[in-house]
Amino acid sequence: MHDAPPTNDIDALFARAAEARQHAYAPYSGFAVGAALVDRDGRVHAGCNVENAAYPSGTCAEQSAISAMIAAGGRRIVEIAIVGPGHSPVTPCGACRQRLREFGDADTRIHAGSEGGARRSFTLAELLPEAFGPDHLAAGGPP
Ligand code: THU
Repeated sequence: MHDAPPTNDIDALFARAAEARQHAYAPYSGFAVGAALVDRDGRVHAGCNVENAAYPSGTCAEQSAISAMIAAGGRRIVEIAIVGPGHSPVTPCGACRQRLREFGDADTRIHAGSEGGARRSFTLAELLPEAFGPDHLAAGGPP
């Protein structure tokens, strides 16, 4: 387990995302992405995208970082940094916004970054307004 940076140490979190990005497996898109998240206990979990010859079977960097958190016993995301190629900050895809919703909340901070250095920060509520989440299921029952 790596030492966790303080949650306000965005540079350190981006550095962890960039480190994971070096291991991305993205031979089909050529678009290597890294992500690093801080869980509620201050621990950092990182991931990268892992593509597949059967394209839809590929996974996103955010998804990999979430899996690493869950496997390590973490459950709640405080913030996440994402780094991809180019000069525009790489924001999470729609499916990953929903994945982040499962383990984050409205205030979870999402820091989108790029290899070129551009960064933009959002809350999860900004990227996924009016999100469907676990609370909705409480209303479930027979039709
Ligand atoms: N990708 C991510 O891993 N995270 C993002 O936030 C955007 C997209 C990956 C999926 C695919 O492997 C490649 O980038 C191109 O879409």
